[in-house]
Amino acid sequence: MKKILVAPSILSADFNNLLHDIKEVEKAKADWLHFDVMDGHFVPNISFGIPVLKSISKSHSMVNDVHIMISEPKKYAPEFIKSGAEFLTFHYEACKDDQEVFEVIDLIHSLNGKAGLSIKPNTKVEILDKFLEKLDLVLVMSVEPGFGGQSFIPSALDKIAYLRRAIDEKGLPCLIEVDGGINGETAKLCKEAGVDVLVAGSYLFGHDDLAKRIEGLKE
Ligand code: DX5
Ligand code: ZN
Repeated sequence: MKKILVAPSILSADFNNLLHDIKEVEKAKADWLHFDVMDGHFVPNISFGIPVLKSISKSHSMVNDVHIMISEPKKYAPEFIKSGAEFLTFHYEACKDDQEVFEVIDLIHSLNGKAGLSIKPNTKVEILDKFLEKLDLVLVMSVEPGFGGQSFIPSALDKIAYLRRAIDEKGLPCLIEVDGGINGETAKLCKEAGVDVLVAGSYLFGHDDLAKRIEGLKE
């Protein structure tokens, strides 16, 4: 039985009690901690960056899964790795061409990071084909990046199924992560489609039954 990994997104955490919320999800056996970095340029929202990652990446034992929704990922990638990012996922749409995508992947690997590539809902999944052999993770956005609490976009399921087939046919180690509008129902659909990692923000943080919800996502 495949182990489904759960990555709570701290964008939905209580920033007045950030360490408390992180400890809560850690206690509830979350596997990864998802950091949503937004620059107000690539996406129409600004969240947090290096200082937050630096200060909390070492305060827990979960994997630091950093999702950078920023322009110029090549310029900033080293700083995120040095600040504690273990998985660093950047956007295909933030790169000027395929060459730059390969350069960012190689740069992350040169700094011993794991490289993830994310596509927005309107980006065709086939563009990932040429990168899969070099990637440690592909992140399928099931909402338009920029905000937590949005509704799941069902076309993400076809992308997950497509990637599951492509990765399995080639016997690649690349993980499939889905992000946006994940709850008990949408998680089930994503697992049936072949996902490995579930990101969830508003479904987890701020709920008393957080531990039960995490357990439910893993089933
Ligand atoms: C959106 C972020 C997501 C979001 C998830 O741009 O990448 O990680 O915070 O939040 P929910 O689970 O509430 O959709
Ligand atoms: Zn995210």
